[in-house]
Amino acid sequence: MSEKDHKVSRRQFLSYTLTGVGGFMAAGILMPMVRFALDPALKAGAAGEGDMLYVCDVDELTDQPKKFPWKFEQVDSWYTSTVKSEAYIYLDGEDIVALSSICTHLGCTVSYEEAKKEFLCPCHGGRFEQDGKNIAGTPPTRPLDVFDVKVEEGKVYLGEKKRRG
Ligand code: FES
Repeated sequence: MSEKDHKVSRRQFLSYTLTGVGGFMAAGILMPMVRFALDPALKAGAAGEGDMLYVCDVDELTDQPKKFPWKFEQVDSWYTSTVKSEAYIYLDGEDIVALSSICTHLGCTVSYEEAKKEFLCPCHGGRFEQDGKNIAGTPPTRPLDVFDVKVEEGKVYLGEKKRRG
């Protein structure tokens, strides 16, 4: 082959370049759309969804909310990640109550103040009663979410988080 056969014209060069850049940009636009379309199918097998996970023993609980963290493996298609969660759990007579620690205003993490028997949110001064009800006059407009609770052989398992109010 002669050197002349290998030459690429300006028109061909521009055509190849624009095709490559255009293809790259199209892939960048289409990939999130495909991912969005497949998302429910990918999430169907995620660990933790609908499962009841062991969090603590009944013996560890009192009538004061106590924070219990836990974590689980979440499989999202080819990607496995460790998800951390936590709940404030306490005894309400015979019942066990597990409250989410996520403020219902804008999602900050609340902490329990035993002296006041209230949950306080540091972000905007949100306050909740011990049972998770939002205190009027503070930013949150609904109570803390609650987890489904199951007890088996003295062990406390938490499930889905549910919205109240
Ligand atoms: S996020 Fe809790 S009060 Fe705003």
